[in-house]
Amino acid sequence: MAKFLLIGNWKMNKTRTELAAFFGNLKEKCGTIQPSSNVQVKIAAPYLLLDRALEHGRDLGVEVGAQNLHWEASGAFTGEISVGMLKEAGINFSLIGHSERRQYYNETDDTCAKKIRAALAGGITPVFCVGETLQERERGETSKVISRQLFAGLTGLDKGSKIVIAYEPVWAIGTGLAATAAQAQEVHAQIRKELAGFFGASHGAAIPLLYGGSMTPANTHELLSQNDIDGGLIGGASLKADSLGEMFQIAQRLP
Ligand code: PGA
Repeated sequence: MAKFLLIGNWKMNKTRTELAAFFGNLKEKCGTIQPSSNVQVKIAAPYLLLDRALEHGRDLGVEVGAQNLHWEASGAFTGEISVGMLKEAGINFSLIGHSERRQYYNETDDTCAKKIRAALAGGITPVFCVGETLQERERGETSKVISRQLFAGLTGLDKGSKIVIAYEPVWAIGTGLAATAAQAQEVHAQIRKELAGFFGASHGAAIPLLYGGSMTPANTHELLSQNDIDGGLIGGASLKADSLGEMFQIAQRLP
């Protein structure tokens, strides 16, 4: 397993033309990322870009995944995409429970739990996002909120479930106001401990735990140097091949 995992979250950005330019630039900056590299790079792309992104990604050693999925296998769910559709397209991971989906599209602890179960049953690795809002942090409820979200999403899963967790404080997303390394580490240590409860000490310790929220080349070294931070879920800074490539190189140089 690679030591660090960087996942770019493109959200609702990029056209096919821009995508080709991005991968061209990333290749210039990083070459082809070998499976043996200590840093793996993945991109969560909009549905319509998945096919093309997969082709480009294959060439560069960059895995491509989705940003959301539906828990039902098929049916009258206008505008939704199933696990089976993603699998058929060659997709093996998806974000689940991103705070923008919780905030704007009525994603709840309950729908996250259904999506995680459907994803795992269909062979898609969930990248399960948790995080507190600014008001929750100010009320001193961070730890309680994280526990509630983890409990809802992870209770009853198989002990060996292949899953990734992303801690994304909502107040840090897209604001330029990243959590300090110490703030992030404090929550990651809590999550790590809770993962041991859900999955046992050994699998709990092996689950990649990513930080997300205004991560850039400037704070990558410090964040990734923390004990329980295994990588990043990167929004804005992943849209430019230069900055994502730089973050890859910074991570590569870490011990
Ligand atoms: P940001 O987004 O890096 O632009 O803050 C992170 C995310 O939403 O995953």
